[in-house]
Parts: sequence; structure tokens; C-alpha cells
Amino acid sequence: MSYEIPAHGGTLVHREAEGKQREDLAKKAGALKKLQLSEREIADLEMIATGALSPLTGFMTRENYDAVLAKMHLSCGLPWTIPITKQISEEVKKTLKLGEEVTLHDSEGRELAIMQVEDIFPHDKKKQALEIYGTEDAAHPGVAAVYAMGDWFVGGPVWLLQRPAHKDFADLRLSPKETRAFFRQKNWRRIVAFQTRNPIHRAHEYIQKCALEIVDGLLLHPLVGETKGDDVPARIRVKSYNVILEKYYPKDRVLLAAFPAAMRYAGPREAIFHAIARKNYGCTHFIVGRDHAGVNRPGGGGYYGSFDAHYIFDEFEPAAIGITPLFFDFTFFCKTCGGMASFKSCPHDSSHHVSLSGTKVREMLRAGQIPPPEFSRAEVAQILIEGMKEQPSYQI
Ligand code: ADX
Repeated sequence: MSYEIPAHGGTLVHREAEGKQREDLAKKAGALKKLQLSEREIADLEMIATGALSPLTGFMTRENYDAVLAKMHLSCGLPWTIPITKQISEEVKKTLKLGEEVTLHDSEGRELAIMQVEDIFPHDKKKQALEIYGTEDAAHPGVAAVYAMGDWFVGGPVWLLQRPAHKDFADLRLSPKETRAFFRQKNWRRIVAFQTRNPIHRAHEYIQKCALEIVDGLLLHPLVGETKGDDVPARIRVKSYNVILEKYYPKDRVLLAAFPAAMRYAGPREAIFHAIARKNYGCTHFIVGRDHAGVNRPGGGGYYGSFDAHYIFDEFEPAAIGITPLFFDFTFFCKTCGGMASFKSCPHDSSHHVSLSGTKVREMLRAGQIPPPEFSRAEVAQILIEGMKEQPSYQI
């Protein structure tokens, strides 16, 4: 009997051309029309091809796109909350014909995939902003990315010719097939995934370790795709993950791997997307804490409620999502409890808690000061202090 969790839709998609098929496609790629992919689209392409976005086999057509916007489902009825699209300009749109094949390439001209043009449809940017992000505010980084896209989408199935060239973390870029093989080899049946775009502070560590108490293994799965300019760059974060794992985590119960996606900052909708993708990587549980995938307004305050990313799971049949969310309340160190706790487990008011604002932490790091150990491991803070000297604009 297999304990392995099925991919979304039942079958792990594999769209990496191999052998004779690859040779034939590579031969014709040079003669086809060419479309350049953005960094975000390259990440999505790689995830489609390796099955991380199962059941998608290509960039979305209008039918799926409309269903995702209006109903948070694909046209086949499976839950899906984030559009996976290839945008094009009006000029490029004029050159394309339905049914033809095109070659998708990166900014250096490397031919990455062939796509069949199944659909070309208009991009209503305001509509996408409102449906997916709940705001038309261009100050929202996810909305800004939508506004910067072209006015059209081209959708259709893809075949990958080669994986994208990556400058970093080659050893961490495990495909769903590879993470699943790792879990099988370790005989882990229950695996919790942790999504993050930040360095690990004590609250992260606490909720990961709470989860680890009830499962066999932890997939620490930092997002390494595009993030907003003031987030801590992935290369600095990965340094800090390695240090903290080495000193404070059980080596035989944790797998560190990279999640290639771009960050959308879509809050609750992105939490569902993150969970489903982690199911495709073979995880059975997924951590959703406070303000998952959220982002603050320029003047302060978030675009989403702190626990909207919990409530959205109630809008789906648990079996249709197929991965168990583990919800965590706001966590912190409580001086009176003498340990990490949350508003669910601690009876004391916030005057007992060690909580630092992002601004305060940044000020401390900029001044070369290590924040209190109740907030961050000193080893992590040290890496952030060094990183901040290189790139002073980022936040934590
Ligand atoms: S995210 O954008 O990738 O969600 P982040 O890396 O900050 O951001 O958070 C990773 C996960 O930890 C998310 O599930 C988030 O909700 C959770 N989290 C972060 N800080 C806290 C906290 N203090 N209390 C509870 N959950 C938290």
C-alpha cells in the first residue's frame, strides 16, 4: 500500500520532453515564432513542467483563467486560486495565430519550451487586481506586477526543452518527483511544508517545531522566485536557513529545498495556491500562520485580515484541497510563560510579550545590533546584519 499523497487532480504532471521527442522539438524550435518569458513566467513554466502546478499542463486559457478569477476553481472543477498566465503585448498578439506552435525563450535567447497557441484573450487588469488581490491599489506589489503586464494573454500546453538556467541554489532546486523520492526513501508518511519569504525568526521556528511534533518530517520550502525589492534577498535567506538548520534542527527530519515561484502577495488566495503546490511536492500538511502571503499598505496596516488565509480554506471541501492545513495564531515569546506561545495558548496580555516592530528590528540590524534572542537566533541576525551592509533597502 502506498501512503504517498496524490498530486492535485490525481496525476503528477510531467511536461519535460525527453529522448526522441525532445530531439524533434529542439530541431523545430529554431524555426518557430519566438516569445520571451519574464522571470515569473520562467518560474511558472518550470513548475508546470515538473508537476509542481499539477494538473496544469500549460499556461492558462480563458476558460481556466475566468473560472479561477470568478470561482477559485479550474474549469474541470478542481480548486485553484492564482492565475498562471503568459502575458503578451498588443503588437505580439497581432503576430500570433491560433493553433500554431511558438518557442518560449529567456532573456538570453535560450530556448526553454514549445507552446501550442490554444487561446489568445484580453487581460482585464483591473478585474484581475480586484478578484485576486482584492484591491486596485497600484501600491500593492502583486497588483503593480499585474499592471506592468501586457494587455493580452496567450494560453496553451507546453513542452519543456530544458530547465531554466539558474545562477543560484542548484542543489536546492528539487522537483516534486525528487522531493517525493526523498520522502519515500526516508519512509516519511506525514510531511509538513513551510512556505516562507523571510529569514526564520523564533515565531517561524516555533510553529515549524510544533508541527514537527505531529508529523514525520518538515519540508522547509522557501520561495526563491521574484519578491518585492525590500524583501530579504533569497541568497541571504538561504545562508541563514543553512546556519539555523545546522544548529537547531534535527538533521534527519528536515529537508531544505527551494520553491521556484514568484511571490504574488495575494494573501488568502495565495495560501490555497501554496498549499496545493506543496501537495504536489508530496507534503500532507501545510502551515498557515498569521497574515500568510500578506503585505502591508504603504501607510501601515495590511491589505488582508490577519487570519483571512485561514478562513478561505472553509470555502472548499477539505478533500478537494487534499492537503491538511495547520493553522497557527500569532506567536511570540512570553516573558511570564517563559517560552514561545500564541494568543491561543498564552493567558497574558501583550505587555508580557517580546514583540518588535519591523522598523525597530531594521534599525537594530542597521546599527549592527543583534535583536533579543527571544525574537531571533543570534546566528541569523548576524547574517542579516552582514546582508544589510550589502543591500540596505530590504526589510524583515
Ligand atoms: S509568507 O509571505 O511567505 O507567508 P513569512 O515568510 O513571513 O511570509 O511567513 C511564513 C509563514 O509563517 C506564514 O504561514 C506566516 O503566516 C507564518 N508566520 C510568520 N510570522 C508569524 C507569527 N509571528 N505568528 C504566526 N505565524 C507567523
